[in-house]
Amino acid sequence: MNIRKKIIAGNWKMNKTVSEAKAFMQVLLKELEEYSASDVVVCPPFTALQSVSDLLNQSASQVRLGAQNLFPASHGAYTGEISPWMLREFFCHYVIVGHSERRIHLGETDIFINKKVKAALSASLHPILCIGENFDERQQGLWKEKISTQLQLGLKEVEEQKLADCIIAYEPIWAIGTGKNATPEQAQEVHHFIREEITRLFSFQSAQKVRIQYGGSVTAENAQDLLLCPDVDGLLIGGASLDVRSFCSIILNS
Ligand code: G3P
Repeated sequence: MNIRKKIIAGNWKMNKTVSEAKAFMQVLLKELEEYSASDVVVCPPFTALQSVSDLLNQSASQVRLGAQNLFPASHGAYTGEISPWMLREFFCHYVIVGHSERRIHLGETDIFINKKVKAALSASLHPILCIGENFDERQQGLWKEKISTQLQLGLKEVEEQKLADCIIAYEPIWAIGTGKNATPEQAQEVHHFIREEITRLFSFQSAQKVRIQYGGSVTAENAQDLLLCPDVDGLLIGGASLDVRSFCSIILNS
């Protein structure tokens, strides 16, 4: 039986001004005033973190704040970067690390992403570790090797007792922003493999506690079927999380 509480996160990416973020949150907090069935996380751009944080802190909402990135150092000469402790100042609870867009556009490696995972945990943040294969790897049947490598390197040296604080987000690159989501069968197959890999790397008990989100063209139309899969413990949503009604619809039907 699945004992893991669902977690639904909205990754706004590089979108929304501060005023747009405030308007979004006003509606979200009203729609989810009494809601607590699933964990809900909003991940605004850095520029809107304080405003969203202030609105969350002024409400009794269970919605949590997430960041889209961090730099794996407590402070120092890292121009333009944000430390995990700076995110804690804004009452962030979650942080996305290893998103494929950062791997592709910014050349982030599994080794660097592993440092981010460990830095997040050291600051008592929940890392959302993004993994996923590209179109060619899917077509050539190489997705297992890719996922296994990203998990092994991404979770390297993570203490087993902190594993339950990590969220894994399976985001097939060929589904991100394309309107072509993985089918529930495809998602379940990969999520089950991820759980088996975590069992191999750590233990069965720990693997049962880790929550695995699916991300990649999630919409209000496909979300429920994806969430019915036994090893899909939540969603990491991009485009559909930018529209507050759509995001609320997915959450309220989760
Ligand atoms: O992090 C979530 C994102 O990569 C998925 O984007 O627009 O396909 O839902 P989207």
